[in-house]
Amino acid sequence: MKHLAVFASGTGSNFIEIHQNVINKIIPAKLVCFVSDQEKAPSVSYALKNNIPSFVFNIDHYSNRKTYETALLNFLKTYEVDLIVLAGYMRIIGPTLLNAYPNKIINIHPSLLPLYKGKDAIKRAWDAKEDKTGVTIHYVDAKIDNGKIIMQKELPIQYATLDELIKAIHGIEHEMYTQAINLILEELK
Ligand code: GRF
Repeated sequence: MKHLAVFASGTGSNFIEIHQNVINKIIPAKLVCFVSDQEKAPSVSYALKNNIPSFVFNIDHYSNRKTYETALLNFLKTYEVDLIVLAGYMRIIGPTLLNAYPNKIINIHPSLLPLYKGKDAIKRAWDAKEDKTGVTIHYVDAKIDNGKIIMQKELPIQYATLDELIKAIHGIEHEMYTQAINLILEELK
C-alpha cells in the first residue's frame, strides 16, 4: 500500500476527511504521517489525538527554507512517503522537497485556477461578484497555486451569504480530494 503524508497549517477539515476515508478504506493507502508549521493549529491536535506521527515545526527555529525542508525530508524518508497531500499548508514548497518528490506533491485550492491564486480565494471571488467559482486540485511546483491541474469542479455562486458559499466549497473539497488521491494512487500502482 502507498504511503501518504498530509501537510496542514489550519483547521484540517480536509485532513480529517482524508484520515477518516483511509480508516474506512475508501482511500486504499496508509496515512503514515502529518506535517504542520503551526503548533497550535486544530489539525495538529487532531493528529496527536489520533496518534498520527507528526512533524510540527516552528519556522523561527530555522534559518531558512532549506534547513527546515531538509529536516522535514529526513522525517518523510523515515515513513517512506509516496505522496504528499497539502491540505491548507500555508508555506511555499522549496526545491529540497520538490526535487525529492517530483510530481508527488498535490494541493487543493478553493478557486477555478488560474483565477484567484493565494489567500482568501473564496472571499475574493464573492467580493468580485463572480457568477461561479470552484475547487482545483493540482500538482505542486515552485510557484503558488500553479502546477498542472489534476481535477477541477465549478460551483455556481447562488448563495445568500459568503458563509454558505464557504460551506459549499468545503463540501466539494472533501469529496474531490478523496477522488483525486484515489486517481493518483491508481496511476502510482
Ligand atoms: C481549503 O479551503 C483548501 O482549499 C485551502 O485551505 C483550506 C484548508 O481548509 N488550500 P481545512 O484546514 O482543510 O479545513
